[in-house]
Amino acid sequence: MTLFDVYPINDIIISKARGSYVWDDKGEQYLDLYGGHAVISIGHTHPHWVKRIEEQLEKIAFYSNSIRIPLQQELATKLGKVSGKEDYQLFLCNSGAEANENALKLASFHNGRKKIIAFNKSFHGRTSLAVSATDNKNYIAPVNETDNVIFLPFNDEAALEECFSKQGHAISSVIIEGIQGVGGINVAEVSFLKKIRSLCDHYGALYIADSVQCGYGRTGKFFSHDYAGVQADIYTMAKGMGNGFPVAGIIIAPHIKPKHFQLGTTFGGNHLACAAAIAVLEVLEEEKLMGNATMIGKYLQDELKTIPQLKNVRGRGLMIGFDVSEEIKDLKKNLLWKHKIFTGEAKPNVIRLLPSLALKKRDAEQFIESVKEEISNLIS
Ligand SMILES: Cc1ncc(COP(=O)(O)O)c(C=O)c1O
Repeated sequence: MTLFDVYPINDIIISKARGSYVWDDKGEQYLDLYGGHAVISIGHTHPHWVKRIEEQLEKIAFYSNSIRIPLQQELATKLGKVSGKEDYQLFLCNSGAEANENALKLASFHNGRKKIIAFNKSFHGRTSLAVSATDNKNYIAPVNETDNVIFLPFNDEAALEECFSKQGHAISSVIIEGIQGVGGINVAEVSFLKKIRSLCDHYGALYIADSVQCGYGRTGKFFSHDYAGVQADIYTMAKGMGNGFPVAGIIIAPHIKPKHFQLGTTFGGNHLACAAAIAVLEVLEEEKLMGNATMIGKYLQDELKTIPQLKNVRGRGLMIGFDVSEEIKDLKKNLLWKHKIFTGEAKPNVIRLLPSLALKKRDAEQFIESVKEEISNLIS
């Protein structure tokens, strides 16, 4: 049997990882500013995370949601405290797409409506509704085509107002990333998020904050939507939540009431996933990683902005993007192969930085030096 070839891959085998570093099978060390696509939040193989998972593995790894799993409540309590959303309710699942799928479905159950507003360049995942709300024709199979999703320009308050004024009472939910990730690190403006909140309130629609990539402390606040001082009705979370252990969830505002069997999953909220997610929150708090993300993120942005060849340096905390011009188009590739630094990208010309929130200053400095050196090689 062969693998179903859907991923363009770098020909590297990673055999060991620790903190912000990974090593290949030949022992070569790489600095990881990509975090396996924003997943590594507290650092690779963090000892506390490993210990929590190992201890849990010795006790019980899995049982279904047909019994009480106290670890789920422990996780919910801790998450409420760290995120500041103590009165929200937690539903656990397994991936970002599944989180968004459940959020969109729950909104529709709640208000009995069908229309969803999503935005240009959005990415919400690969499952049916999540992909229908994703602005990329290549990902949408004919079976996922629907008239229920309305795409509007990002950060365009007038277009949003007009859409609500025409069909506001049919809108079930508005789904938005606080910072678009796959779309190229586009920051939602504070006034835009406030406008979404007020229009949703006025028309009875739900505000879904897709925080799969921009959440879990990555931007220096727990949810990037917090920068707007708004409360979403549902926040979706995945990537950083388990630091690599597959776990995801949605948190749901208190006015939305649960009903048996409306949502469900076999694996979601299993013992091992909860242990991993609790460990992440403990480390996030103990090591003050949101503060670190703010500080190192600022350093990186300030430094990147001094490099004239890099355009539109943007983002928040440790979710940073910048545009790369044609003359330095090989920058990402050369950072990887010559300088042994992993970075992320967004098509066509954006480099994305999504490192562990525990990234150290000296590693950020090494990155900046490598970028400068590589740019001077490329333009000479
Ligand atoms: C904002 C956002 N939402 C949803 C998803 C989908 O998450 P998953 O790949 O875990 O299904 C992603 C993945 O990149 C994402 O960036």
